Amino acid sequence: MERLQKFLSECGVASRRRSEELILSGKVTVNGVVVKTLGTKVSDNDLVSVNGKVVKRDIKEYYLLYKPRGVISSVKDEKNRKTVVDLVHTSSRIYPIGRLDYDTTGIILLTNDGELSNLLMHPKSNVSKEYIAKVKGFFSKDDALLLSKGVLLNGKKTKPALFKLKKYDKKSDTSYVKVVISEGRNHQVKDMFSFLGYNVLKLKREKYAFLDLSGLKSGEYRKLSLKEVRQLYSLK
Ligand code: URA
Repeated sequence: MERLQKFLSECGVASRRRSEELILSGKVTVNGVVVKTLGTKVSDNDLVSVNGKVVKRDIKEYYLLYKPRGVISSVKDEKNRKTVVDLVHTSSRIYPIGRLDYDTTGIILLTNDGELSNLLMHPKSNVSKEYIAKVKGFFSKDDALLLSKGVLLNGKKTKPALFKLKKYDKKSDTSYVKVVISEGRNHQVKDMFSFLGYNVLKLKREKYAFLDLSGLKSGEYRKLSLKEVRQLYSLK
């Protein structure tokens, strides 16, 4: 049993707040009877309708996509560019959990489970994200230390992170740097490098929490297992 407004928002009818308004304005019936009391408890056995249309709970779906370059991390794009949702074949209303830039590749999760998405996107959540960045020039140990300790971006210090040189290619004068961060600010990795004057040539997200890209090629995706979903729910 759960509260009617929560049920409506989980079914994708509207946000929790808007669902409350729908209930108060008499637009919602439960088993044929108008219900105006917020907090009325319903279960999946009850017949809930909004404006006369039956509302059913979406079956929850969870996908792990290997995002290619040149794809937008949103549901729709006003310029009609390809989105991560276009790459996953489902009729459910899924959306990405967080974002990768248009030119960033790698792991991204998609779901229609608002609760999990909110949990993982919450500013207090500490989900680790691992990247490999190709940057121009030699990435020094001092700079690795500085970025790992945190720098001021838009007036706010970044949380402790890991920046570690994996390889330096003398011929092309490029460094390959492993980066692990636990925040999800927009363009964070690129902005951190650029804070010290480095230009990021390529960026790939190799891990999201305990999940990686094994078995997938760019553009491919797989469903998460129940065990993986449970593990994501238990992340702090
Ligand atoms: N940080 C960035 O700068 N870009 C991404 O796509 C992800 C993290």
